[in-house]
Amino acid sequence: MEKQALLYEGKAKKVYATQDPELLIVSYKDDATAFNGLKKGTIRGKGAINNQMSNLLMARLEKQGIPTHFVRELNPRETLVKRVSIVPLEVIVRNLAAGSFSKRYGVEEGTPFGKPALEFSYKNDELGDPLLNDDHAAALKLATREELAVIRAYALQINELLRAVWASCGVVLVDFKVEFGRLAGGTVVLADEISPDTCRLWDARTGEKLDKDRFRRDLGGVEEAYCQVMERLRGSL
Ligand code: TMP
Repeated sequence: MEKQALLYEGKAKKVYATQDPELLIVSYKDDATAFNGLKKGTIRGKGAINNQMSNLLMARLEKQGIPTHFVRELNPRETLVKRVSIVPLEVIVRNLAAGSFSKRYGVEEGTPFGKPALEFSYKNDELGDPLLNDDHAAALKLATREELAVIRAYALQINELLRAVWASCGVVLVDFKVEFGRLAGGTVVLADEISPDTCRLWDARTGEKLDKDRFRRDLGGVEEAYCQVMERLRGSL
């Protein structure tokens, strides 16, 4: 499968057309941004790690009954995926307080919840990805009520499956963001990526941050953290 026209270039990925109208090639970059693009940098080796980690995790989820866009890894940085139209929602599942949740509600990072907390943001850079609820999403026609119910159920299932995967590597899945897309026939599938860019991953023993917060917060050791979680994941599968 060969890359054809560049269809889209985002902050961390490029998406190309292929000869098959239903398939696209995603190419992961080492570029990193935070705070809606205000902070820019490079994380050497990130593209390859995010590509391979996302593929390993999506293949695992697919086996466990979650439909995904993943088709086949083409090379260390590039993957063949099914063409979807992205549902413009960032679907965030939180197991412990951290990040914007801690800031917004004044709760210490690491505070546990009884049950996971799911939230939606409207995927819209101009508006700064504002938080929204099901009624808002339906009012804005971002997704139907049925789709929102499916997305919510998948996201919570994904959380349980990924929590177990990461626990077996000595890593706590603090929170993560996923995106869903619609195939040509309307079926909702998991899309985008699952990587240290989109998850908070803390060492279970020391609490050390092993994800993009090292970049966002200038903690140093960014490349090392990405390599370490990737090695731990490979070692556990
Ligand atoms: P938050 O606490 O900053 O809202 O982030 C929640 C989770 O979502 C965290 O695991 C990081 C991830 N995330 C993204 O994948 N993309 C983003 O643009 C943001 C803000 C967060």
